[in-house]
Amino acid sequence: MGYTVAVVGAGLVGERLVSELRRRDFPADEIRVLARTARRVEIQGEEFDVRVAEASAFEGVDYALFAGTEGEKGAAMQLAPEAVARGAVVIDNGSDFRLDPEVPLVVPEVNADALRDHKGIIASPNCSTTTMVVPLAPLAREFGLEKVIVSTYQAVSGSGRGGVEALEGLPGGEGVYPKEISGNAIPLIGSVGDDGYTTEERKMKDESAKILGLPDLPVYPTTVRIPVHTGHSESVYVETTREASLEAVLDVFSNAPGLVFSGDKDDYPTPLETVGEPGTYVGRVRVEEGSPGAISYWCVSDNLLKGAATNAVQIAETLVGSRV
Ligand SMILES: NC(=O)c1ccc[n+]([C@@H]2O[C@H](COP(=O)([O-])OP(=O)(O)OC[C@H]3O[C@@H](n4cnc5c(N)ncnc54)[C@H](OP(=O)(O)O)[C@@H]3O)[C@@H](O)[C@H]2O)c1
Repeated sequence: MGYTVAVVGAGLVGERLVSELRRRDFPADEIRVLARTARRVEIQGEEFDVRVAEASAFEGVDYALFAGTEGEKGAAMQLAPEAVARGAVVIDNGSDFRLDPEVPLVVPEVNADALRDHKGIIASPNCSTTTMVVPLAPLAREFGLEKVIVSTYQAVSGSGRGGVEALEGLPGGEGVYPKEISGNAIPLIGSVGDDGYTTEERKMKDESAKILGLPDLPVYPTTVRIPVHTGHSESVYVETTREASLEAVLDVFSNAPGLVFSGDKDDYPTPLETVGEPGTYVGRVRVEEGSPGAISYWCVSDNLLKGAATNAVQIAETLVGSRV
């Protein structure tokens, strides 16, 4: 017998949740798509009657994968507790519950163990955080981490449909970004806090600390929106506790779960090549001679897949034991 799965939101992530459930053969007898407005949509050639997201729509649901809006009046804050009250396990792609100590924040390759303590709601991280922690986790295990400096090159689909419309110059994109995105690079994602970090940068600091179980790890991000449709890239510099030779680092990346790494120094991933792929890609690995604990690399993942939908479906798979 399969499960009844609700997908809340029929935007960029909602659509990919449905297609990932199908592509990965998740044991679902029913996929129920919920959004603000009822309508009929086609996702990967399959027709769905979208129902209005309201408490009663979660009757009989085993897993509810949320990809709606965030905040007090957003889908998750309004409806996740209602879904849990009706017996569903919620996996939320938004930021509302990520730092709640009662809610596991999970990237299955990194901290699947955290799922053991869930109380009905599980959070999937911010897309730039997920891209960062998949390669960081094996480095942390093998060498220990002292410091991380990261600059991101983030795609417009990370802002949902509105971001894509802004890049395409469509009316729905008006006001999504503080400056013109076409032909530009905007080093401000979210809003700036008192400490000068943006909300996106704060997410990378706080969420990575929780996922890696390293609350004191210094992480210094600069997050930048660029005019790429899909695929977040990151330039990462890591200082490790223990000695790390180039050979040892290449070996760690070659064997790390969820990482795609050819080991060839002329090979590097780009967002265009990563779109539609579920993994996290690494390239341009360098280790400073004479300072073996200083590692630089480039990593890329599809923000809508590993950065959101694939990660959420992997969490569900881990819970049902169908795949890890
Ligand atoms: N985009 C990414 O790369 C990414 C990565 C990680 C996490 N996330 C998170 O995933 C969530 C969805 O992002 P997205 O990119 O898919 O956004 P999107 O393309 O703008 O789509 C948002 C969807 O949410 C639905 N929605 C809004 N309020 C709702 C409510 N109260 N109840 C039910 N549905 C509601 C909308 O319904 P209608 O269609 O009916 O208006 C729409 O289908 C956000 O929390 C975002 O932060 C996104």
